[in-house]
Amino acid sequence: MNEIKGRVINVSNRLPILIRKHAGGARLERSSGGLATALEAGWRDQPGVWIGWAGTGPEENIEPFLVRAAHRRSYTLRSVALTEEEIAKFYSGFANEIIWPLFHDMPSRCNFEPEYWEIYQRVNRKFASVAAETAQDDDFVWVHDYHLMLTASALRQAGVRARMGFFLHTPFPSPDVFEKLPWKKPILKSLLEFDVIGFQGDRDRSNFVSCLERMLPEVTVERSHPHLLVNQEGRQTVVGTFPIGIDFEAFERDAKRPEIAAHAANLRKRVSDEVLVLGVDRLDYTKGIPERLKSFRLLLRRFPEMRGHITLVQVVVPSREEIPNYKHLRREVELLVSQINGEFTEPGWVPVHYIHRNLGRDELLAYYRAADIGLVTPLKDGMNLVAKEFCAAQIDERGVLIVSEFAGAGPELRSGAIIVNPNDFAEVAQALYDAAHMSADDKRCRMRLLRQIVKDHNVHRWIRSFLQAIPEPVQAKGDPGGDSWESAAKSTERSRRILPGVALVAAALSPASRPRYAMGKDAKLRVLGSAAGED
Ligand code: ADP
Ligand code: F6P
Repeated sequence: MNEIKGRVINVSNRLPILIRKHAGGARLERSSGGLATALEAGWRDQPGVWIGWAGTGPEENIEPFLVRAAHRRSYTLRSVALTEEEIAKFYSGFANEIIWPLFHDMPSRCNFEPEYWEIYQRVNRKFASVAAETAQDDDFVWVHDYHLMLTASALRQAGVRARMGFFLHTPFPSPDVFEKLPWKKPILKSLLEFDVIGFQGDRDRSNFVSCLERMLPEVTVERSHPHLLVNQEGRQTVVGTFPIGIDFEAFERDAKRPEIAAHAANLRKRVSDEVLVLGVDRLDYTKGIPERLKSFRLLLRRFPEMRGHITLVQVVVPSREEIPNYKHLRREVELLVSQINGEFTEPGWVPVHYIHRNLGRDELLAYYRAADIGLVTPLKDGMNLVAKEFCAAQIDERGVLIVSEFAGAGPELRSGAIIVNPNDFAEVAQALYDAAHMSADDKRCRMRLLRQIVKDHNVHRWIRSFLQAIPEPVQAKGDPGGDSWESAAKSTERSRRILPGVALVAAALSPASRPRYAMGKDAKLRVLGSAAGED
């Protein structure tokens, strides 16, 4: 890791744990969602502090839960309590009724309520003040995701001198979409107060830079391979591409456990011993669940011979249930499931099995192992870890991954997966048909390739490459160490030496890039071509 002498202080809206109230009291649960899953896995043995919301209000004493949760972790947890108004206007409102749909290219779903902006600023200051109390000069403050885009300026105003970074787990939209946001300039300016900003893919990074060029013309951008350097008002920010991954080894190891194998075999016996298709998502309109169901219905209509021989298990984890768009989505999905089942069910065969709950890790792994086809078709997604988890759990190499071209994982996994446009129901139906009829050899070859890519681009590499991009601390005046601009360049130069793969991963994710991997005749993975450099 880069020379962080102190600790890493992670700051995200959600903690990896959630305290859920129920009639008899409260219980500790694990948070779902890509951010919590990835960071929790990558951070397992590192010391530090994780600051975030545990789903609770200021009146609740959650300290005993935090202490209990910290027992099996190497870092401590600090919670930021949110009032009901803050949950409604910051979390549901600004973050999830404005930024979430906007960043996923769905501006017509945005509710640009001015009051949300007021509360968003207030809550960002609140998170920043907890971080400011915690951080020391030699720590690194790593802020995550769209909920907290204003924290850098608040931290600087609070006098924090630690270096700071920001990683966006979602996509970043094009300037034509981003400019619809009434508060675009303060958000861009505040982001530039971070020392490093990271994106999932090259397209997100180049959208961000295009927004800077259009909306903040005073900013200048330079290349410092493999990253970019953005200069604004004498400050410099490193802007890079850092595709997130999973803890491949842990998924593989756990998927191999005999209990998981037995559970998976049992599922196949009870659900389908022919072709089992699996979808696993938060119940979110970006995940393309209605579109997926319509594609499955089209498959059954176009290929009647598939009826009775293919079964879709769609698992959804309830999410953001207070927001109207999410309530409508649930109704739409459940109506479609019942329509499809009403149209096609036969004695002994129900075409769609619908599960609406958070699954435990073992149950999830058993479904991943049991499935013949992983169907991951978001309309837009920062990365999509489900696609990678499916591959990691496919230890028998007999599953096929179908993945949307609009998921961050799409370009990365295109050489082994079947890539589809989720809005093209006929294409998805055909992909399902093809996957169901693929030869065992072809499946093995593709899955081996996918597993190698997922293993290679794992969560540890994501963390390492991000931390290596942090520029050196700014030296005091007159210190021969030089200014932060030169230091950043030195630092990125060093990171290139330490981790040559960063550029390769970035290049492999470029929307225009060709597959960078292929399986040789000897079944060994080949890396085709070298890093293409910047976009
Ligand atoms: P997002 O961050 O948008 O939710 P990702 O696919 O990147 O999407 O991450 C989702 C994470 O949540 C994965 O780690 C996945 O295992 C987990 N998850 C999704 N659905 C469920 C479910 N029903 N039960 C348990 N975990 C789930
Ligand atoms: O990974 C994307 C993400 O938006 C995370 O930031 C978030 O924690 C997760 O999905 C789940 O959403 P929520 O925190 O609203 O339940």
